[in-house]
Amino acid sequence: MKNFLYNALVLLVLTVTFTCKNQDRKTVVREDAPKSDYYSEMYRPQFHFSPEEKWMNDPNGLVYHEDVYHLFYQYYPDSTVWGPMHWGHATSKDMVHWEHRPIALFPDKHGYIFSGSAVIDTKNTSGFGTLGNPPMVAIFTYHLMEGEQAGRTDFQTQGIAYSLDKEDSWTKYKGNPVIGNPGIKDFRDPKVFWNDQLQLWTMLLVAGDHMQIWNSTDLKQWEQVSEFGKEKGAHGGVWECPDMFPLKVEGTDEEKWVVLISINPGAPNGGSGTQYFIGDFDGKTFTTHQDSPRWIDLGRDNYAGVTYNNAPNDDRIFIGWMSNWDYARDTPTSKWRSAMTLPRKLTLKKINGVYELVNYPLESFNDIISSGKKAQDLVIKADEQKKMKLLYGNTSEIQFKTSGRDVMFNLSNDVGDSLLFGMEARTNTFIFDRRKSGKTDFKDDFAKGVQKMPLSNLPEGEIEVRIPLDHSSIEIFINKGQYVMTNQIFPNEPYETLEIFNPTNQPLEITDFKERKVERIWD
Ligand code: FRU
Repeated sequence: MKNFLYNALVLLVLTVTFTCKNQDRKTVVREDAPKSDYYSEMYRPQFHFSPEEKWMNDPNGLVYHEDVYHLFYQYYPDSTVWGPMHWGHATSKDMVHWEHRPIALFPDKHGYIFSGSAVIDTKNTSGFGTLGNPPMVAIFTYHLMEGEQAGRTDFQTQGIAYSLDKEDSWTKYKGNPVIGNPGIKDFRDPKVFWNDQLQLWTMLLVAGDHMQIWNSTDLKQWEQVSEFGKEKGAHGGVWECPDMFPLKVEGTDEEKWVVLISINPGAPNGGSGTQYFIGDFDGKTFTTHQDSPRWIDLGRDNYAGVTYNNAPNDDRIFIGWMSNWDYARDTPTSKWRSAMTLPRKLTLKKINGVYELVNYPLESFNDIISSGKKAQDLVIKADEQKKMKLLYGNTSEIQFKTSGRDVMFNLSNDVGDSLLFGMEARTNTFIFDRRKSGKTDFKDDFAKGVQKMPLSNLPEGEIEVRIPLDHSSIEIFINKGQYVMTNQIFPNEPYETLEIFNPTNQPLEITDFKERKVERIWD
């Protein structure tokens, strides 16, 4: 009974999809045909970052320096599955277009190079550079595979390296590791930032089921000052990739600190996910009244996300890895594997008296959205649906506003793929169903159920919904990023049709509806 409304919709969608199968065949004029073969393989993201080839996971070393955004990432240059980790490197001037750079960090005798962060040592506290040419310092985890295979628990340590030539060549510090292992199996992913309160460096480290905070004056010698989280948040898996930063509550002078912790497994919709905590930081200790977990994104494909150090205007810019360890190694791409989320700006809002961490595409993303067709206002009668052709296939953005809270969408093509998502007022939930969305059988876990996102604090009235659709991903931003779902999809052919269903007995109004083309970034 509980799922009756949803099941009825699924049936209706499938009937409509199959009845319409051969009508309007291929009347769509494809305006999104790429001009070159570069980045044109099946499923290749057209406006998301992906490596030219081979395996990628977490974003690392996000830092802005001299007008350039750096993106380092977990990279294995010899295969499309995870292996001995390096740091790949790319740079961007606008956070939209990316330039590939040489691999920055290679494994050495201390181990593989796992996730971490990067800082600009402006005061040359490390002595690696000069005041005139301050070093970029990368802080990362060494993972010694031989140690792990021998059944030891001390195989993860922390190391540092620096670059003085615009980050194209790197020197590892001779005194590595700078933090040895105290006998904790999962002891990794250092996030370092300049601590304004105490005028020194702060490092966050995860240690199994909690986060540790360490301070240093020179990036080489570290002292642990506190820990956080053993009794807070979700603990269905190991804590990974911490981050922490201050944000002003929008429209006020109140400042709160936000902690991000990725966890695998243990996310509400299965496998990997990123939780957040809102609280206070006194330079040494993070405290919060929040006990239960909150999630930055309730889709299945936003993991290990962290934010930029030194971004202009104090902006807090987040990038996540658009995959999930449940099936990351099995997705059906051949030359490369996986992509990053769109870069998103994080802000803190108070909605109905509750602090909400909001994530929403950066302004600069609008630069590659072309004007497309004129915005339309739609009224969908009770129990009816509206069907429209997608003009730009899977390289588009759908955007609209509505006050309705009961609406279902179906993206489909004429080979029978169907991706269903929408809001259900009775349960106050957003539903995402990729079970019939295309290729799903590469791993059982990929499409085993319907994903659900409670919309418990969504304000009443009109909300905006924004949906960038790239070849193998869909990101759904509800109410300017108060609720977000990011998911991979592998349709057998690009979706061609969008249907909007009104399952209620009242007319549904959708205003300012736009489907616009998103330009590819790889020419
Ligand atoms: C997160 C993670 C990190 C680790 C890295 C290894 O996805 O497991 O904890 O440093 O990936 O590639």
